[in-house]
Amino acid sequence: MKSYKLGVIGNPIEHSLSPKIHSIFAKQANIQIDYQAYRVEEIDLELFIEDFFKKGGDGLNVTVPHKINCLNFADEHSADVRAIGAANTLSFNKSTNKIYAHTTDGAGFVADAIKKDISIFDANILILGAGGAAQSIIPMIHAKHPASIVLDNRTQEKIQTVLDRFSLLKSDEPSARAKLTGLKNFSKHRSLTDNINLVINTTSAGFDGPFSWDKDIFTTKDTIFYDLSYNKIDSSTPFLSWASQYSDQCHNGIGMLINQAALSFEIWTGIKPDINLAENEFFNE
Ligand code: ATR
Repeated sequence: MKSYKLGVIGNPIEHSLSPKIHSIFAKQANIQIDYQAYRVEEIDLELFIEDFFKKGGDGLNVTVPHKINCLNFADEHSADVRAIGAANTLSFNKSTNKIYAHTTDGAGFVADAIKKDISIFDANILILGAGGAAQSIIPMIHAKHPASIVLDNRTQEKIQTVLDRFSLLKSDEPSARAKLTGLKNFSKHRSLTDNINLVINTTSAGFDGPFSWDKDIFTTKDTIFYDLSYNKIDSSTPFLSWASQYSDQCHNGIGMLINQAALSFEIWTGIKPDINLAENEFFNE
């Protein structure tokens, strides 16, 4: 039976849930995998990736802080990777000897949102944060035709960088399918923020204490809050504790984590995991 040599690289990596998730997928698919978490320093990144694939590696997940730099060591980049400038999955094609970079974060978020019945079709979406995590989900949300995406970030200048990167989405044309704008332009785009359906936290604010945001956020009792982060022990997070004052519809990032992992697993093995079964096993183990 073929055995796949897989892993995740990052720093820190000790608390990664990926080995557990992929072992559930492998058991379900009845295949053998050797999936390990590797702590890799920035300076060793090139050597590690080269060596891993030279020694028979099939695929790697890539997490913080290597999502951008790993692109330098891949031969081919998917269209989504080129759009966002970061990857979370590397695969190796043994017949071409090439390393391919993919990103499954955005598609993982969308898949989890659909599963949870969170509408991102014609929705008014507020994204807090303008770093790599925000950029990884914006193109995929856009592909689902939301009415608007409004960005806010502690450092306002970074919003412009993201707007420029995704300039094709930045349109005020009524015919445009999606709008992407910064919260600074609030008054000009009042209608965009009058009725926010979904607030997504992509920041690391709250990692060292309670979450807070420096502006009022206009939401309704139906607004849904989604945190891309998660906590291994508790289903809440600092952001979701803060959000609970506005809404009781709060979701952490575990579902996105499992969905992005499933998409990586499919890239490497060609087998699509059953997410419902995998989630049951993940939470009951
Ligand atoms: P990632 O790749 O995980 O998105 P990042 O690129 O370092 O990481 O981005 C982290 C995000 O969290 C940024 O939007 C950052 O805001 P700044 O651009 O102002 O740095 C945001 N962030 C981190 N700590 C924060 C805090 N205490 N309050 C508000 N935003 C914070």
